[in-house]
Amino acid sequence: MAQKPPITILPPSGGPPLAIVLSEATTPESRSRCFKLASTAFGKSLTPDQYVEREAQLDQHPLTRDGGWRFWYLAAADEPEHVLAMCKTMHRDLLVRDARGGGAARREQGYCIASVVTDAAYRGLGLAPVLLKNVAEWMDGPGGATASILYSDIGEFYVSKGWDLLPALQSTLSVPSTLPQPPPPLPQTRPLTDADLPALCARDIDNLTQQFSQQQQQQQPSSDDDDHHHHHHTLATVLPTADIISWQQQRADYMSAAALGDGQKEAPLPEVKGSVCESAGAWVYWYHDVAARRLMIQRVVQLRDDQNEALARLFLDALEEAARWGLAGVVAWNPSAEVRGAMEWVAGECGIEVLHEKREVTEVPCIRWRNGEKRQATVTSVEFYGWS
Ligand SMILES: CC(C)(COP(=O)(O)OP(=O)(O)OC[C@H]1O[C@@H](n2cnc3c(N)ncnc32)[C@H](O)[C@@H]1OP(=O)(O)O)[C@@H](O)C(=O)NCCC(=O)NCCS
Repeated sequence: MAQKPPITILPPSGGPPLAIVLSEATTPESRSRCFKLASTAFGKSLTPDQYVEREAQLDQHPLTRDGGWRFWYLAAADEPEHVLAMCKTMHRDLLVRDARGGGAARREQGYCIASVVTDAAYRGLGLAPVLLKNVAEWMDGPGGATASILYSDIGEFYVSKGWDLLPALQSTLSVPSTLPQPPPPLPQTRPLTDADLPALCARDIDNLTQQFSQQQQQQQPSSDDDDHHHHHHTLATVLPTADIISWQQQRADYMSAAALGDGQKEAPLPEVKGSVCESAGAWVYWYHDVAARRLMIQRVVQLRDDQNEALARLFLDALEEAARWGLAGVVAWNPSAEVRGAMEWVAGECGIEVLHEKREVTEVPCIRWRNGEKRQATVTSVEFYGWS
């Protein structure tokens, strides 16, 4: 991106104006400076060196290499090596259906914005809003984005900046000290590993694409009935590609190694990345969040309805996996009614608790459409796999 002219920030407290420039970090040196700033806010369970090493490893992943993620930063115009604020944009494949294209589902470009951080000495000056505004201009223009999503750790702050909230419900099963044997009538499952991802994700995406195309195009009248304008309803989701699932898992592997290793020798790492019930066409991918002691369900796939027993078995498998690694909970984001039902059944069977709650402050998903357009939209499958 061409260097833009400096932007002048007038500190609210009345100090001297600050001239800043926006740049993309494309060199190893500038990226490393960005990673260092991000590690001050987000690398709490890693040392700064580990944080930099993790990001360097993820830089080689198919999702993020070759421009799949990009780093943006503000620096003082007269001190371009001092990163004052940064964020990154990460590639997302969107599936979108709206009035265009005869209502067929299309793949479109999306982004996840992550690691928004301002140097602690420069907070409160409005730098992060300036950064996000400029990055939004890039996404809307050269970045070709239909929409971008972020997961806010500062509650509904982004809503005040024009973002729309997405559903942020979650259900958590607490892991019991002893697990019951799965009752015999439940269907058989098998462990899922990295090697399963390409084929399973492709089936999932085919199924989602068909579902999107079959949905009746909904048109909803605008609130102003007089002008006869009709807004077209948009149906959209972040596609659960093999790249996105395995990227999170590579991240989890790094975090697990850091948490489980003793620095002397390599600890064994979780190899089972989910569970699949072939007979029911249902499976889950999961993410070991060792630091927070939770097994995150990345995605629940159900090719057919009415597979409650298969879902129950998959959640029993998840509980077993969580227990194996000393994790305290199994967490699913925005579970469907069937998934909630299965979790409740499992809870009853094991004599444990299931907690349904809304995340009000942490990891609150928000979406922004191109040019800040307000769309009547339903975003489906807002599960953990989309998170960064
Ligand atoms: C959040 C953060 C990026 C804001 O950066 P900044 O350059 O200081 O931006 P500003 O001071 O102009 O703050 C922007 C807005 O964020 C609000 N804000 C800052 N920290 C906040 C917090 N913890 N909770 C809620 N709102 C917050 C400010 O009130 C301000 O709102 P306003 O524009 O309506 O006045 C910065 O505080 C930071 O780096 N925090 C640690 C990392 C983090 O939490 N990142 C967000 C992850 S989504």
